[in-house]
Amino acid sequence: MRTHFCGLVDEALVGQTVTLCGWADVARNLGGLCFIDLRDHEGIVQIVAEPSDAEGNAAVLAAAAHVGYEDCLRITGTVRRRQSVNPKIKTGQVEVVATSIELMNKAEPLPFHAHENPGEDIRLKYRYLDLRRPEMQQMMRTRIQLVQSLRRWLDARGFQDIETPILTKATPEGARDFLVPARMHHGEFYALPQSPQLFKQILMMAGFDRYYQIARCFRDEALRADRQLEFTQLDMEFAWVSERDVQDTVEEMIRVVFREVMNVELANPFPRMTYEEAMRRYGSDKPDLRNAMEFTDIAELVKTCEFKVFTDWANHADGRVVALRTPGGAQFSRKQIDDYAAHAAKYGAKGLAWMKIDDLAKGREGVSSPIAKFLDDATLDAILKATGAQTGDAIFFGAATYKSASDFMGALRLKLGKDLGLVAEGWAPLWVTDFPMFEWDDEENRFVALHHPFTAPAVDSIEDLRANAKSAVSRGYDMVLNGNEIGGGSIRIHNSKMQSAVFELLGIGAEEAEGKFGFLLDALKYGAPPHGGIAFGIDRIAALMAGTESIRDVIAFPKTTTAQCLMTGAPSPVPDAQLAEVHVQVREKVAK
Ligand code: AMO
Ligand code: AMP
Repeated sequence: MRTHFCGLVDEALVGQTVTLCGWADVARNLGGLCFIDLRDHEGIVQIVAEPSDAEGNAAVLAAAAHVGYEDCLRITGTVRRRQSVNPKIKTGQVEVVATSIELMNKAEPLPFHAHENPGEDIRLKYRYLDLRRPEMQQMMRTRIQLVQSLRRWLDARGFQDIETPILTKATPEGARDFLVPARMHHGEFYALPQSPQLFKQILMMAGFDRYYQIARCFRDEALRADRQLEFTQLDMEFAWVSERDVQDTVEEMIRVVFREVMNVELANPFPRMTYEEAMRRYGSDKPDLRNAMEFTDIAELVKTCEFKVFTDWANHADGRVVALRTPGGAQFSRKQIDDYAAHAAKYGAKGLAWMKIDDLAKGREGVSSPIAKFLDDATLDAILKATGAQTGDAIFFGAATYKSASDFMGALRLKLGKDLGLVAEGWAPLWVTDFPMFEWDDEENRFVALHHPFTAPAVDSIEDLRANAKSAVSRGYDMVLNGNEIGGGSIRIHNSKMQSAVFELLGIGAEEAEGKFGFLLDALKYGAPPHGGIAFGIDRIAALMAGTESIRDVIAFPKTTTAQCLMTGAPSPVPDAQLAEVHVQVREKVAK
């Protein structure tokens, strides 16, 4: 049908006849002379239809005159050098003088044009038009290159690509399961995998050392810019390894992939930080190290001051009082400060105390703050010293439980960093290690696993773990890039008794454990090697590489934040007969 791609027509073809297929990106009719920008996946080339003595040319001009946006065309013509070079496009040195224009499919008036960005709802409804846009083509192609590069590396290193079931039994990763009714088993359900976690572990027990899979995962959880109901992991597992074996190997992989796809040289080795340090310095377990702002803990300085919020939390066993020095913050207006307080409130802050340092040399006189009156000179001075405050700075303060203060001050740090231009360019990878094994869930009144229940504790004995469950550290690790968790993994429990003990600590009784995970507990008994692994969020890495905030931009057909596919209309009701077939009855909607 065609001899060349539009975007690849170049000077080497001058004088030759080419046949091209594509969409009419732009059509300009100058009366007796028509220009068409013909676009395919490789790019755009300019087509000219001009009067000449040649026979049949009138037909070409007539056809060109009727071309509309996004019409599908097949055009034959001769390549010639352009008079006015267009440096903005690859083919800008040349144009194609049409000798035939065939309309292959007329496009109706479009809901939006390829050069517009009309808002995401419209884009998602007409995703095929959206994806035609060069910007989207580019982002999707970055993802494709990422996956190609990963596979090349994995295949060369002897990793084995093995598929695991989509219709399976629930594997908890902390989210809600998607259920699929089993027609052949009345009242029973499959679950879609939240990850291939248990299968990949069992593959290690089955002797397939070094597994990988580009795996679709399903989690029924609240959607955000970096979360979808279904997303893609590069899932990996290794037998006979320590955490450093896994980390060093995949760190090298990520470096190679960034070199190949982005021409970027990442740090070697990646910096490492414990969870404790990350929370203490940045209030986040995935700190963006490009942002230089850091917390200062001031509980020790304000234990006896007159500001009750501070003293309460400074003397609370699980409290935290944290100060965030903000270079340049003295210029903030009252309105701006209120906006920052509102931002912190979104992350749980009950208030946000602040201080502006108009002139450090003047001491108290040079400071404006609603809480200065509660602080004596020594305390005020100690806070200024501890934070390293300078003239022109602001200091924000958060007091709450350790977790809450870390959360809202961490969110504030990110926003301030962005707003004030304190985030450096470039790439900041990081390993975060030594996560707590468990987190106490007040609502459920039990421990929950911080990674997942198959993560090994850093202690060897079950007695040790039971005695120190609250403070136990796990052998889990996350890879963080520019403040995004791009991968998470761990060394796994490979001992059946330890696995049972962890289930028990998580409030999963012996019977429930047997029912849900009996197959795993069994498999662990017959010579399970030590093993561990990691899974990377392909969508997140692709989004970072493509320079977009939302993983929706690197997923061909994503769901909205309200969990819908606007193009197909999923989810949708199904006929009663179909429900009956799978033995399902829909309940009455209960008012909230
Ligand atoms: P985890 O739950 O940390 O670990 O997931 C691994 C990585 O997958 C990405 N990710 C997501 N991406 C988009 N949308 C989501 N809803 C979503 N949830 C997670 C993140 C994350 O780092 N089985 C373990 C891995 C292991 O232990 O080997 C697991 O799934 O980038
Ligand atoms: P109040 O005395 O309640 O008006 O609070 C005085 C200042 O302290 C205000 O700027 C509040 O935003 C701030 N504040 C109140 N609660 C907290 C808190 N938990 N952490 C930090 N600042 C707070």
